[in-house]
Amino acid sequence: MLIATILSAWLQYGADGEPHARAVVSGAACPAARADEKLLAMERRAAGGPGFDDVVCDVAIPKDAKRVAVDARALPAPAHDPRTIVVLGDTGCRISLVLAQGCNDPSAWPLPANARAIAALHPDLVIHVGDYLYRERACPALSACSGSPHGDNAFAWQADWLRPAAPIFANAPMLMLRGNHEECSRNGPGWFRYLDPHASTACKDTTDPYAVDLGTLRIVAFDSAVAEDQGVNDDHGPIYRRQFAQARALAIGASEAWFVTHRPPYTNGDERDAMGDALQPFDAVLSGHIHLFGAVDVDGQPPLVINGEGGTRLDLNYASFLGLAMGKLHAAGTPFGEARFGFGVYRRTNAGWTVSLRDPGGVERAVCVLAKRSVHCERVE
Ligand SMILES: [Fe+2]
Repeated sequence: MLIATILSAWLQYGADGEPHARAVVSGAACPAARADEKLLAMERRAAGGPGFDDVVCDVAIPKDAKRVAVDARALPAPAHDPRTIVVLGDTGCRISLVLAQGCNDPSAWPLPANARAIAALHPDLVIHVGDYLYRERACPALSACSGSPHGDNAFAWQADWLRPAAPIFANAPMLMLRGNHEECSRNGPGWFRYLDPHASTACKDTTDPYAVDLGTLRIVAFDSAVAEDQGVNDDHGPIYRRQFAQARALAIGASEAWFVTHRPPYTNGDERDAMGDALQPFDAVLSGHIHLFGAVDVDGQPPLVINGEGGTRLDLNYASFLGLAMGKLHAAGTPFGEARFGFGVYRRTNAGWTVSLRDPGGVERAVCVLAKRSVHCERVE
């Protein structure tokens, strides 16, 4: 049997609510995982195929494990009662027909710096709110992305997420959401292969919401990859109405619940149409998709915090858009927006959470209080 070389390994929450060790390996056989003194056989999640010459392995890990490893590589232990949670999103380096981000320039594409700064905090949990792979075209000549791989394949996934995320993987368990860049017509096959939390690796447009219980906090993860930003897709209506009802049921009984998704549900037609009162049991809604850090209170709904500032070229003028894009919903007060690269550090307080926007150097640039179904932010000069 060929000995596997571990290319990437991490701990992530599955749709079963359990922590799982995942590993991307070269070679045919999956390595063994270890949880405390117990050896666990990893199952082959995905074999090699066109564009993907690696093997992906997975095994559920007991929630109370203190020491976790894949082969000789130590992984972080599962979260218990998280006090510090980092949220980042929209992290890939954008190479499209019209735009080439400087993937080789750390100031133009700061995901590697963000990942190091996040790892240095040793958070109890890291949530990625989606959009990992933006390298969709060949890098144009004489651009600062020269040599970049592109397409939905192992090289591009390694370059845009798996390699830069290594410091996070070594330090914190993860919960990963799916973005629109991971829909089936884009990079869905790679998403299902490496990161999707469900057991099946077949690409589907929509997947059902699931809950992860971490101490007194319940996180309900909602797949909004194919929701329409503008307008309403009639085919989506019945699906999202059912899934919002599922999400609502999952939140019932939790002492504190977050609805975590990629697209802000208040600003896209499909979800706004389908949600009804499904978000009422939630204390907060966390999303990405708009490439900035944003926060807004919404009349009659839980507050929204957007962490879309993780590395993809920023959307500079969306702060006011947040208030305008909500259709029949209304912003309570002025939406807060800061178009600056970084990530959000959520720290538990007696009343709720503080949210600190950090830049890729780890410096605090804004701070918010997220408590009692309301969010209020101030810039830090
Ligand atoms: Fe997005």
